Amino acid sequence: MLIRDSRLDIPSSEITPKGIYLNRRALMTAGAGLIAAAALPRSARAAALNPVPSDLTTTGEALTSKEDVTSYNNFYEFGTGKSDPARHAGSLTTAPWTVKVDGLAGKPGDYALDELMRGLAVEERVYRMRCVEGWSMVIPWAGVPLAALLAKVEPQPSAKYVAFETLVRPSEMPEQDTSWPPLPWPYVEGLRMDEATNPLTLMAVGLYGETLPNQNGAPLRLVVPWKYGFKSIKSIVRITLTETQPPTSWNQQAPSEYGFYANVNPSVDHPRWSQASERRIGEGLTSRRDTLMFNGYGDFVASMYAGMDLAQNY
Ligand code: MTE
Repeated sequence: MLIRDSRLDIPSSEITPKGIYLNRRALMTAGAGLIAAAALPRSARAAALNPVPSDLTTTGEALTSKEDVTSYNNFYEFGTGKSDPARHAGSLTTAPWTVKVDGLAGKPGDYALDELMRGLAVEERVYRMRCVEGWSMVIPWAGVPLAALLAKVEPQPSAKYVAFETLVRPSEMPEQDTSWPPLPWPYVEGLRMDEATNPLTLMAVGLYGETLPNQNGAPLRLVVPWKYGFKSIKSIVRITLTETQPPTSWNQQAPSEYGFYANVNPSVDHPRWSQASERRIGEGLTSRRDTLMFNGYGDFVASMYAGMDLAQNY
């Protein structure tokens, strides 16, 4: 991946404290769960909206500023520079939006996004995001557990993997219209079924209490916080349940550098750089922190990889 860095540091005074954005968060769903939750007193409401351990609504670390989260992006359909997505993704039409569900699903179909989300309670999750390039952020997402979304479409017992596909629309995604695209399109990703249904795995529809900005993958993107950021595919138009491991874009592009699993692992270096530490966006160009195994989410996910050689399955 290309690493360019022209960004400025954001003073900590500009980082929005969690309490402020929590108060103005717009919880987006037509879900019965949320409507019921809205009738509850405030404290109970928080619990109803976040039926996950409360430590998933904070990392205990400063949030990356909204400005950084929405202006320092990887979304190669809009260009390979970090500021390209914010500059060019505004042109993307995100409504109406249809997600095709196919493969080994009891309820396949072309779902309008609203229909797919109906009845699902949107939760807030504050997750670390570690890019394989060596930088990281802390982002307050709003989304639904992928497990809940998948339950609606009824995966068949033979479904062992979930494959995802990003929109192809060269008229609005300029890098899809070039003769030397940085990646083959569509951008594709995949998870094993146990990874897809892990309670941490989120289908995000918002961040910082607002609808997801286009540059961050509107209107629907995956967030898999214990894996390198490239697994978190944006602007999803297709979800396919399969029996075999699906191809993934970066693995196809450079198989020796980017594996299917892509679990954050400080002891397995990228062939061209160390993964032992990372630069937290907003904390200065030189300050580095240690990268954590599974990005700090081992308690939730390590058991899925018991007995696996994680250097082999990078
Ligand atoms: N999804 C699509 N469709 N295209 C992309 O180029 N980049 C990936 C991932 N999802 C990418 C994508 C990479 S490399 C990262 S690090 C994250 O999106 C970045 O997400 P962010 O821009 O919201 O921080």
